[in-house]
Amino acid sequence: MAAVVTTPSPGPSPRSGAEIRSAFLGFYEQRGHRPMASASLVPDDPTVLLTIAGMLPFKPVFLGQAEPPAPRATSSQKCIRTNDIENVGRTARHHTYFEMLGNFSFGDYFKEQAIRWAWELTTGIFGLDPDRLVVSVFREDDEAAAIWRDGVGVNPQRIIRLDEADNFWASGPTGPCGPCSELYYDFHPERGDDGIDLEDDSRFIEFYNLVFMQYNRDGDGTLTPLTRRSIDTGMGLERMAQILQGVPNNYETDLIYPLIETAAALAGVDYHALDGRGQTSLKVIGDHSRAITQLIGDGVSASNLGRGYVLRRLLRRVVRHGRLLGIDRPFLAAMGEAAIALMAPTYPQLLERRELILAELVREEARFLETLERGEKLLAEVLATRPACISGEAAFELYDTYGFPLELTEEIAEEHGLRVDAEGFEAAMERQRQRAKAAAVSIDLTLQGAIDRLAAELEPTRFRGYEALDQTACVLALVVNGEPATAASAGDTVQIVLDSTPFYGESGGQVGDRGVLLAGGEADGVAGGVIVRIDAVSRNRSVFVHGGRIERGSLRVGEVVQARVDRTCRRRAQAHHTATHLLQAALKQVVDEGVSQAGSLVDFDRLRFDFHCPRALSTDELERIEDLVNGWIAEAHPLEVREMELERARAAGAVAMFGEKYADVVRVVDVPNVSMELCGGTHVANTAEIGLFRIVTETGVAAGIRRIEAVAGPALLPYLRERDRVVRELADRFKAQPGEIVDRVAALADELKASAKALTAARGALAAAKASALAERAEAVGSHRLLVQRLDGVEGAGLQEAAQQLQQQLGDGAAVVLGGLPDPEDLGKVVLVAAFGPAVVAAGAKAGAFIGGIARLCGGGGGGRPQLAQAGGRNGRALDDALVEARRLLEQELRTGS
Ligand code: ALA
Repeated sequence: MAAVVTTPSPGPSPRSGAEIRSAFLGFYEQRGHRPMASASLVPDDPTVLLTIAGMLPFKPVFLGQAEPPAPRATSSQKCIRTNDIENVGRTARHHTYFEMLGNFSFGDYFKEQAIRWAWELTTGIFGLDPDRLVVSVFREDDEAAAIWRDGVGVNPQRIIRLDEADNFWASGPTGPCGPCSELYYDFHPERGDDGIDLEDDSRFIEFYNLVFMQYNRDGDGTLTPLTRRSIDTGMGLERMAQILQGVPNNYETDLIYPLIETAAALAGVDYHALDGRGQTSLKVIGDHSRAITQLIGDGVSASNLGRGYVLRRLLRRVVRHGRLLGIDRPFLAAMGEAAIALMAPTYPQLLERRELILAELVREEARFLETLERGEKLLAEVLATRPACISGEAAFELYDTYGFPLELTEEIAEEHGLRVDAEGFEAAMERQRQRAKAAAVSIDLTLQGAIDRLAAELEPTRFRGYEALDQTACVLALVVNGEPATAASAGDTVQIVLDSTPFYGESGGQVGDRGVLLAGGEADGVAGGVIVRIDAVSRNRSVFVHGGRIERGSLRVGEVVQARVDRTCRRRAQAHHTATHLLQAALKQVVDEGVSQAGSLVDFDRLRFDFHCPRALSTDELERIEDLVNGWIAEAHPLEVREMELERARAAGAVAMFGEKYADVVRVVDVPNVSMELCGGTHVANTAEIGLFRIVTETGVAAGIRRIEAVAGPALLPYLRERDRVVRELADRFKAQPGEIVDRVAALADELKASAKALTAARGALAAAKASALAERAEAVGSHRLLVQRLDGVEGAGLQEAAQQLQQQLGDGAAVVLGGLPDPEDLGKVVLVAAFGPAVVAAGAKAGAFIGGIARLCGGGGGGRPQLAQAGGRNGRALDDALVEARRLLEQELRTGS
């Protein structure tokens, strides 16, 4: 083996995060690696929620499903991991958001070169003392151990063999993987080389992982060698910063600390003067603020599902830790501003999206504060039942449904002298985790269906559908009723892969084409051959899958078919697709230059376009948008579609989907001077083909996301016909001319309102009648008369009236309390009223305060005047007990008062 590697450091070692990043990328660029921009945190891999490692954007390359961008690449990739979220802020080095520096070889160099460069970079460029480094290798990897020992010259005592759990890396339960070797920094070399324990994180920090990508692991755990052995590495930027900046943990590096300072200033505390808990809260805020800012920047909005839930959870943790520090007003916008300022030099797109990021933070924070309030109410109800302790289930419900942190439940419970069953809470949490895990596994398995396995083995389909709508093609694979097959016959539901196809496969929001595959005589217009009706075309990576049904004859793998796209459907889809581009251009003109796409659907009968915008559009704006689009249609612009390099396209101003990953050469769809977008979809040749464009609705679909639905082109006529039919039918039904319908409906609505009012009055009268029959149930208490009764089926006003009448009927000394469910079916709404005569009030009892207290027993509150008051509650089950309590209290009060 070659001599020991020693490269003297060319100058002072880098220190700041930015210097470390550029030193790493520069080192590998000099060694023939193509620098790649960080991909989005939202991967275009359906099996993964978020980008968790630098290799993720290259997963298809490692698997041989995509061509490498270059034989060698290097990147600094933003990543999010939430598996260790509980450790964030508690240990020195756990993060949700972090940056992974990586060097990659796609079938180019392998183990020895990767190890030598890693050492050269670490000791030479970063200037780490070789005596402070320890390396680990996979237990069975003698080759790696030998390279470290003989090739690099590492002391054998400092080469530690670890087993699979530590030194075999995989991107997930399935996918590319291989043995790895890690570099550790030793903060205490004086403790010697005997019995080194790399788990001891007071002494060691792992900072660079070299993965020797060799296998693909499938659903049942089988390892298959990859066609090209590759290298994937990851260096934690924050960890290297901690080492080189000599700070005690990652949070105190220049990559995060400014955010801790911002939060400390908002809370009016001093980080260094705080105890461990306080510091943890600041660290969590620092860490999570970067994560939530980047997530929103990459187009994620808070929700209860998937990525949206990750965002929501992190964001709520920030709010909660802010509250623990005593910040009692909204502060996320300030954290967002600080995070953008900190990261924008590396990620300038954060500046472009600043408004949206801040708006989402503000909105979601407000929503959470409201939820916290509702949770507090629910907790008050639980407390009102005077439990011995707050059950784990209840605490978990508060946590899970109301986003109510356990610590907060504990805090409030403590104020009431109660304990929370924290073990029960953990158990409930664990059950939830198991449920989530089970769900994740089943998702993974369904993705391993027959067609996936086939697609992984097949060449990418050649798509000819930009030019051709009718062509011959060869059947490469068939799946019949979910199973791979060599032939299929009439009646079978099939999925078909062809070598090339004119069928557009669903992608970029545009639906797949419809049409037929013909063989035998059918292809030549002679009846009697094979007909396969295709009703869905999807893409499995780059393999197009034609789904449909065999109508006649039978089809075999290897057969040649005539593939014929339904032109009418295609024309409708492309009118909608081009109209979508025009719509986006019009939105930018009318609403805001910064409007960006959040999703879109291009269907045969309509288009749907989702975009980031914090408010609803006005009717006037919508009309202006419609006019602009129709203007461009009337101007008959010819479209120009070209392929060009991504950088050139961007420079020319082409609109790209934010967070989308593009190939180096992209397709640009240009409506000159109107719209230019990167797009793989099919389009009209000239805007005039669209004919007409009409917006149907504008609605909100999620916080900060609006949706426009519109119809254009050939689909507009059926749409308008349907509308006219509805109008005609309404006119018939209401016996009016179409122009009179509005007035007629308004008159009917007025009539309906009047009837409803009459009905309420009638109900009130009925209640009064029922109530007067109750008078005889009044009991005498001293000189007073007391009546507490349940009366369901009466609204608040009716109940008040009844109570008042009863009180008058029973005299000045009477106290009447009535409670009931206005709708006996709805246990969620309780009404309570109290009517106290003047002598009762004189004796010191007040209807308002009294009924408010009773309502609290039913999970509500309210009050009013001393003589007459109404209150409400939300827990119908507690009503009977509450009335018993009302009777007892009132009796007591009247006895002592009189
Ligand atoms: N992909 C490897 C990791 O994430 C480098 O550790």
